[in-house]
Amino acid sequence: MGALRGQSWKYAAAPTRGAAIVVVVAALWALGWQPALAATVSLPGAAFDPAAVEKGAQLAAIGNCKSCHTAPNGKPYAGGRALSTPFGTIYGSNITPDPESGIGNWSQAEFMRAMREGVDRRGRHIYPAFPYDHYTRVNAEDVDAIYAFLMTREPVRAAPPPNELAFPFNIRSLVGIWKLLYFHAGPLQPNAAENEQWNRGAYLVEGLAHCGACHTPRNFLGAEIKSRAFNGGQAEGWQTPALDASSAASSPWTVERLYAYLRQGIDDVHDVTAGPMAPIVHDLSRVSADDVRAIATYVASFGAGQTPRPTSQNAATELPASGRGAAIYAGACASCHDLGREVHGGALKLSLSTAVAMPQPDNLIRIVRQGIVPAAGESGPWMPAFAGVLTDAQLTDLAIYLRTRFGERAAWDDLAGAIEKIAPNPSTP
Ligand code: HEC
Ligand code: HEC
Ligand code: HEC
Repeated sequence: MGALRGQSWKYAAAPTRGAAIVVVVAALWALGWQPALAATVSLPGAAFDPAAVEKGAQLAAIGNCKSCHTAPNGKPYAGGRALSTPFGTIYGSNITPDPESGIGNWSQAEFMRAMREGVDRRGRHIYPAFPYDHYTRVNAEDVDAIYAFLMTREPVRAAPPPNELAFPFNIRSLVGIWKLLYFHAGPLQPNAAENEQWNRGAYLVEGLAHCGACHTPRNFLGAEIKSRAFNGGQAEGWQTPALDASSAASSPWTVERLYAYLRQGIDDVHDVTAGPMAPIVHDLSRVSADDVRAIATYVASFGAGQTPRPTSQNAATELPASGRGAAIYAGACASCHDLGREVHGGALKLSLSTAVAMPQPDNLIRIVRQGIVPAAGESGPWMPAFAGVLTDAQLTDLAIYLRTRFGERAAWDDLAGAIEKIAPNPSTP
């Protein structure tokens, strides 16, 4: 709370304003603290039922706990992964059972409170970069299984770097106000009109799998705009496609296609996973087929790709850039993408690609610059990176051509700005 006190002194120069601020700060302080729960001794790993641990492993994969809680090349769950947000950088905590730097001293009840209320062991609010606005929907049995899984991991002593947030977001107690405005704790009500599989999918997608954390747009305070659920958002510099009827997908995201995509990162007629969706699929590949099918069933009901793409009048207009772009496509891309996936060595016809038809060019620019590279030690589709091959001007012409020819839409606004903004270095996704 040092930072909070410092701020109140700094602004106390004008007496009345100062007094008002002290009252506000005191209120924030009160909001910012929850009682610490009675300390309990943590159980040794052996005390957990192996079946609960195995179930917890699958649930932790659905929740992607490892992605955010493992630093690049770091020990699993030991924290330190930097998450950049519009408010600054937040580091995933150490959630191994180390008593000092991890959660080794956390009781089951304290862990439950963190997952469902976003409050840490000491009673402080946790930043919602930890998606507890979704995890609050997870039932007690599942949270306990995740606890059993984490408590049986290798304890690692490692302290993540302190968060680097801009004022006033560095005042942790302000998260209390954010919660009053945007956090709705508690379970999801099942929809009686839908079957069990759909409801299981809703439970997973809205809860542990937190798909909306990336696929729903956020407001200026970083809260998901619920009225625009699955309307497309942003994640780690990528644009996240809409999964609802506004989707730019060229054909319907049916249950079968979603199932294939979520398990293998590729279906028959849509883009492969290329950016932040890849680790999600990597996690889901180890989850039970039933649960992935349930997720697919629920998501398919949003109707993505069912409305044919509107064809733009402007698209037909031949721009000079488009002619130059056509030549680049013919030389650099057509040898694979004109063949289609059915042919050995071929790749998706780009008229089927979501990336060329999305409202923003960002993902197309990233894919062309970075190529498609399977994760280390894994096999998968491969496409060369064009970062050092195409100049910015050539990439601009190419994008205009792809957009109008294959996306069948008017050219993107401020394409040049996006090309400049997106880091050309393929090692910085
Ligand atoms: C999108 C990223 C993200 C995902 C996914 C995620 N976390 Fe976190 N988690 C964080 C961040 C960031 C923090 C620290 C926030 C802060 O500083 O207040 C955190 C904090 C926590 C804490 C509090 C730790 C402490 O010492 O205060 C626990 C417990 C936790 N996460 C458990 C989990 C579990 C279990 C899962 C999977 C079900 C999970 N997290 C998934 C980002 C994530
Ligand atoms: C050596 C073959 C090859 C070349 C050359 C190539 N690509 Fe790809 N590209 C792939 C493969 C393989 C994938 C992923 C699997 C798939 O789509 O079938 C892919 C994926 C993509 C995607 C993501 C959508 C999708 O199909 O999954 C886009 C967009 C794309 N490429 C654009 C381009 C552009 C633009 C060029 C030329 C600058 C290019 N590619 C050159 C092989 C290639
Ligand atoms: C960490 C952010 C993140 C999370 C969480 C996430 N996605 Fe994605 N998703 C993306 C991004 C970014 C893309 C597009 C680029 C790529 O391949 O990474 C994408 C692409 C997709 C696509 C392809 C859409 C199209 O038309 O091409 C589907 C379908 C999808 N996600 C479904 C899901 C489901 C279902 C979940 C939850 C189980 C989920 N996503 C969770 C970031 C995320």
